[in-house]
Amino acid sequence: MQHLEKPVVSPEEKWEELKTLFESLYPAESFDDLCRKMKAASDARPASLRERDRLRTENPLWYAEPSLVGMAMYSHLFGGTLGGVMERIDYLAELSLRYLHLMPLLDMPKGQNDGGYAVSDFKKVYPPLGTNEDLSALCDLCHEKGINVCIDLVLNHTSDEHEWAKKARAGDERYQDYYLTYPDQEIPNQFEQTVPQVFPSTAPGNFTFCPEMNRYVMTTFHAYQWDLNYHNPAVFCEMADALLFLANLGVDVFRLDAVPYLFKEVGTSCRNLPQVHTLVRMLRLICEIVCPSVILLGEVVMAPHQVLPYFGSPDQPQCHLLYNVTTSVCIWNSLATGDCRLLEHNLRQLAGLDRRFLFLNYIRCHDDIGWGLDEDEERRLGIDPLLHKKYLYEFYSGRFPGSFAKGELYNEDKATMDARNCGTCASLCGVQQALEERDDLRLKMAVRRHLLVYSVIFALRGIPMLYSGDEIGQLNDERYLQDPDLAHDSRFLHRGAFPWEQAAQRLDRRTPAGKIYREIRRMIRIRQNTNVFHGLGEIFPMTTMDHAVFAMGRRWQGETLVCYFNFSGAAKLVELPYKQHYCDLLDETGQNSCQGELTLGPYEYRWLLQKKEAFPHV
Ligand code: GLC
Repeated sequence: MQHLEKPVVSPEEKWEELKTLFESLYPAESFDDLCRKMKAASDARPASLRERDRLRTENPLWYAEPSLVGMAMYSHLFGGTLGGVMERIDYLAELSLRYLHLMPLLDMPKGQNDGGYAVSDFKKVYPPLGTNEDLSALCDLCHEKGINVCIDLVLNHTSDEHEWAKKARAGDERYQDYYLTYPDQEIPNQFEQTVPQVFPSTAPGNFTFCPEMNRYVMTTFHAYQWDLNYHNPAVFCEMADALLFLANLGVDVFRLDAVPYLFKEVGTSCRNLPQVHTLVRMLRLICEIVCPSVILLGEVVMAPHQVLPYFGSPDQPQCHLLYNVTTSVCIWNSLATGDCRLLEHNLRQLAGLDRRFLFLNYIRCHDDIGWGLDEDEERRLGIDPLLHKKYLYEFYSGRFPGSFAKGELYNEDKATMDARNCGTCASLCGVQQALEERDDLRLKMAVRRHLLVYSVIFALRGIPMLYSGDEIGQLNDERYLQDPDLAHDSRFLHRGAFPWEQAAQRLDRRTPAGKIYREIRRMIRIRQNTNVFHGLGEIFPMTTMDHAVFAMGRRWQGETLVCYFNFSGAAKLVELPYKQHYCDLLDETGQNSCQGELTLGPYEYRWLLQKKEAFPHV
């Protein structure tokens, strides 16, 4: 596996590369500032984290191990505060999680703050959640339990209440240069001609006029999120410093929020510019030099050809991990249509990728579902991309006749017929509707759908991520509509308080929460204890005669796994390949060997392991 491992590069070569890259963007004299910050962070790094660095330097692909199963959660929704999360750590340990993404927890304005993505201080925990000491204690506790901690590094912007923004507003030119500000609309207008909009209906436009400063400031996301100016070396040095500060509190993984947007240039889309890749590569080198146990996860919610460059090249890697956005959308598409062809196509593409490329696989997260399917492939299959997108968002909003889903539209743009969807996994899978209608049969099907989509996530190559609450089938929470700061943003539909009463039923298999939880926990354990799920293993597509059945395989160190997922409400017969005997990993009855044909019930899935040693080729 030598070729999959990082090439061994000496620290001097890393410094050299960092310096060269830095000077490709900034004046050489600013490099000293970065060096000073790195040196200070290195001196301040606690001994326990240095030991973590040492161990992980020996095992640099630790994050490819099959035990790495994760969860994303908002601390305040789950435990009230960081201390509250610590008190409830056993709940996470019970699921044997090894990775915890704590959603934004740094200082932010009260009121509108984009769920914490408007940061007011990169070096201070948001006081209602706790203190920096609490974050450090939580990281220690997680480490004791074998859990890696991930937090967001919101690099693209700060809140307009950040000290830098306040100084800029007060007229301090040094800090005005931390942002992209202009005295009149001339340059903003030039930008607007080529820069698309992120939130066309909830936050239209890319600039905001600031009366105190009497200048226009670039605000790609919301008006209160001021874009940082990465043409200015001081900005890069400050953000690298923030990363190192947080790493020294014990953070293992940084989610580089909205990373494609970092660098802006008139006349471009201001997305994925080459300079962004230089910035990410520099962050990677900085981590490797100062805190090598720390890894980078890029948030690139774009088409696959735009996502993959963020892994970098074998010699110059950038992110360690990226989100697998497309598979998630393809799974939702298969569930709405009972047609897995786009998912199969997506898997064929994944199968062809370099095995160094490790993804975070998820079915739901804190954001909306954007319908980024492969339009060329849709056309090839005779599907009209625009009409199909409309079908999908109508389906998952629950408005399409016969839909099992309950969700909301997000950023509907009537002009372009675009819209996305919000809702929890369980509500989108039909659990909410079935419960409201007290329909047991539908409830059974809905629970199966929920488990089916997660069974794909757990089987894929990469790190499977749960979104907190999905393990017990948490439903949509409409209370956000009562809060004037949140009501305009339907993403808060799936950001409800964690339902502890429902969680209390998690071991009771008569309840939907129990059915979901027990099966999810079982899938996690099986995955963690079966080598074939190793991240460096192979993933390969398989074809079935039926578009409603998705099939894929995994291979690693002599073991082969074949998986079948029935995306329809009807039973299906599939023929198993290679005339082999398979061990049914998910079978609870004990009759766990099969060969020849297999019947899959509605929305049923199987993971079948063929052990070379146990079942020699016949
Ligand atoms: C990322 C976050 C999203 C946020 C945006 C702006 O896309 O996932 O929640 O609105 O960045 O920070």
